[in-house]
Amino acid sequence: MNDRDWATGIDPSRASVARVYDYLLGGAHNFSADRDIARTLEAIEPQARAIAAANRAFLVRAVRFLAAEAGVRQFLDIGSGIPTQGNVHEIVRGVAPDARVVYVDRDPVAVAHSTALLDGDPNAAVVQADLTRPADILGHPTVRKMIDFGEPVGLLLVAVLHFITDEQDPRGVLAELTAPLAPGSHLAVSHGTHKQETGEAVTKVYRRAVAQGEPTLRTPEEIGAFFTGFDLLDPGLVHGPLWRPDSPGDVPDDPSRFWFLVGVGRKP
Ligand SMILES: C[S@@+](CC[C@H](N)C(=O)[O-])C[C@H]1O[C@@H](n2cnc3c(N)ncnc32)[C@H](O)[C@@H]1O
Repeated sequence: MNDRDWATGIDPSRASVARVYDYLLGGAHNFSADRDIARTLEAIEPQARAIAAANRAFLVRAVRFLAAEAGVRQFLDIGSGIPTQGNVHEIVRGVAPDARVVYVDRDPVAVAHSTALLDGDPNAAVVQADLTRPADILGHPTVRKMIDFGEPVGLLLVAVLHFITDEQDPRGVLAELTAPLAPGSHLAVSHGTHKQETGEAVTKVYRRAVAQGEPTLRTPEEIGAFFTGFDLLDPGLVHGPLWRPDSPGDVPDDPSRFWFLVGVGRKP
């Protein structure tokens, strides 16, 4: 895809959550408005890039676990973002070549790039939809075609639930999304949590400058409640780098500096 194709119909003067994250991960699908916001965030939180990378690394470890150890063969990745290194369908295929993946994002740039990447792939697809409207996702023809709700599903909500405000009822959204999932389904979540003034300052930057980007940081209790109806697997709800690290050397001295909490739960 050339630059003009993916930028068609986008307002480049307004930063987007997906493109700011893409920039922090070292991607190239962002505009100067996104880079300005990312730099403002970095001025407040010098670790912003490391935090983005640690979040992505959690996603990779969780998906590998779900495919290799939990035997999950179909994935619904909501708030999937702009394709980057370690895309879900690439990870699962390393384990199960016929596994199916549906990506969902509301961001047009994320959807355009995913569409281009997956062109002609029979076992992976992308849907443009909003997490706050679960019925649109569950009833989407592509989701219905690709996901067999009689079999376990890996539901991924990685770094997206904090973009749902309390007024948008994230617990209600989760209840609706998880109700049709078969026993043996898994839920993987990462979510921004409080870190004194830094978290508040970052939230303010997003609120001011990012289209539809009002993060709500939540307490461990609030994030843990998202796993209602699921058994939280070891090591429970922890700071990102602490979730089943590939090696002990990957765990930083103070993991709480990575102020997001993660967990994986199994539906009994
Ligand atoms: C920080 S990125 C996370 C990408 C990926 N899940 C990861 O962790 O690497 C957040 C993504 O969620 C998407 N997003 C935010 N709110 C959403 C909503 N209400 N519905 C669907 N996608 C949403 C954004 O467009 C963005 O692509």
